[in-house]
This record gives sequence, structure tokens and C-alpha cells, in this order.
Amino acid sequence: MRRRMGRVFVSRSLPGDALARLGAAHDLVVGPGSEDEGGPERAGVRGEAFARAAAELDAIVAVLTDRVDSALLARAPRLRVVANVAVGVDNVDLGACRARGVVVTNTPGVLTEATADLAFGLLLAAARRIAEGDRIVRGRGGFPPWTPTFLLGKRVHGATLGIVGLGRIGQAVARRARGFGMHVLYAQRAPLPAHVERALGASCVPLDDLFARADFVSLHCPLTDETRHLVNADRLARMRPGAVLVNVARGGCVDEVALAAALVRGPIGAAGLDVYEHEPRVDPALLALDNVVLAPHIGSAERPTREAMAGLAADNVLAVLAGKPPLTPVG
Ligand code: DGY
Repeated sequence: MRRRMGRVFVSRSLPGDALARLGAAHDLVVGPGSEDEGGPERAGVRGEAFARAAAELDAIVAVLTDRVDSALLARAPRLRVVANVAVGVDNVDLGACRARGVVVTNTPGVLTEATADLAFGLLLAAARRIAEGDRIVRGRGGFPPWTPTFLLGKRVHGATLGIVGLGRIGQAVARRARGFGMHVLYAQRAPLPAHVERALGASCVPLDDLFARADFVSLHCPLTDETRHLVNADRLARMRPGAVLVNVARGGCVDEVALAAALVRGPIGAAGLDVYEHEPRVDPALLALDNVVLAPHIGSAERPTREAMAGLAADNVLAVLAGKPPLTPVG
């Protein structure tokens, strides 16, 4: 008897061979490649392609803009697995999936170095005013004659970096910081074993101390009820004069209204952001400021990394639909 193929909804077209491998084993429904193809309400799990396929789906390959909640699960009674093409899973209601027996997977590990690279890039760009300089050069078709006081930035080497969440990505940022002779502090609920701290040259401190002592604060925690607005007006007020905030984690970890106010009034001097509270919209108060570098959620956006993320999501679906354990389950 011929084995029934599964039905897999892939929210967005994926780089690499993930679609081909999934398609060789299962029946695929692929959503529009981007929101340009029909507007946000047509793409992903909000789109018509999903609505038509939902009742028959065994698996969903989701991206971080797809909200997977109990209402969506109710439309997909056969669903067995949600493979998120991201390490963050704040778009998925894990409790609802657990209650329905739906496996959730993510893509840890494969995006660690790429995301740490971008965090460090934003740190450098914000500290040394690279984007601001670029705007000046473009705006004037050149720049004012060299003077000793033009576009003075913040010193990076030898400064203190505070990392909130010293998981895989946080540790990769700490390794980069060592190369810049930085002192590394970190905050998280459970300190790491002493030998890991030694290897990274990192010391664990309470969260509020980290904000008070660091010249640079970089966020690498997941977005949860506990970390929502972790960077609020109080913590921003504790930061050192001229300190720099970097966020490549999730926008919801930062109260953006408070951040915009602190970037105007101080004490914080600059910020480098890749993620936003209400993305893809960016708060106009941030857009108006020169001392914030704004990237469009591209932490993992290099081809080998995105191919590896897509490949891992596909492998998770293939495993679960073959009755095997998922490679990278969440929770
Ligand atoms: C993630 O994986 O959670 C990122 O935000 C997307 O690369």
C-alpha cells in the first residue's frame, strides 16, 4: 500500500534545497514569497493559500511574522508539527500547541555567528556614528574638511560590554568583544559554570548592576512575559552617560517610547536596533533621531545561514512526519 504523503504548508518561499527536499516526500503548499505579493493579509498563515489548505495540513513551516495560536490550531485539526524558521518562538503559543499535542521546533545554533556579527556591527556603527557619517556624505556629495572635532564617537576597545542573556548568541558576542579588549559582564537567571565564564572572560552581575556599569548593553534574551520591556525608563535612566544599547533579540524587550525619550534626553548616547516593538513598523520618534542605527531585522540574513535555518526546519518536519523525534524541539 502506498504511504500517504503529508500535507505541508510553507509560509514563505525558502532559500536552499529545503522546499525540494520537503516536496520530494510530501505534498507542499507554499504561501506567497513576500508580502509584496498581495499585501500582508494575504501572506503566511493569514493568506488564502493557508485558508484553503488548513483542514488537511500535517505540518506548517512558519516564519516569525506568522502568529500560531489556538484559533489557528482549531483550523488545522490534523496538524502534527510547527517548524519555525527562527530561533525565537514568541510568535507561537507553545501552551496551545502542547495542549493539542503539536510539536514545535525552532532553528538554534545555525544562526549564532551571523546574529552575533550583526550585533557587533550595530555596536560599532552606533558607537562610531557610521550611518550618520554615511548620511552626511550622501547628503552633501562629500563632507566638511577634516577637523579634530568632527563626528566624534564612543570608544569601543577596552570598554565594558553588558550582555543580557549569555546563551549561544550572547556567548558569540562575548567572544567578539574579547577581540576588542572589552570587559564583559552578563546577566541571566542561572550563572554559567566557572570554566565557561573564564573562557569568555565574562562575569555574572545582577541585571540592574549591568545597566549601571556597562558602556554597551547588548540584548540576547528571548521575548517572554518576564523580558517584555526589560529595557524600560527606569533601566535606561540607570545607564552610563553616553552608553549604547544594541538589540538584535526581540523588539518587545525594549519600551521604545522610553528609549526614544532617553536617546533625546540621555543618559544613553546611542542605540543600534535590528528588531522593533511593532515591526515591520518603526516608531517615528526613532526614525527622527540621528543617534540610532536602524536595521530591518536582518540578524540572520546571510545566505548560508538562511539556507541552514530553512534546512533545519525542513528536517524537523521530515522527522516528525516520518514518526521520528524532531531534531530541535522547543519546550
Ligand atoms: C530568529 O531566528 O529568531 C531571528 O530573529 C530571525 O533570524
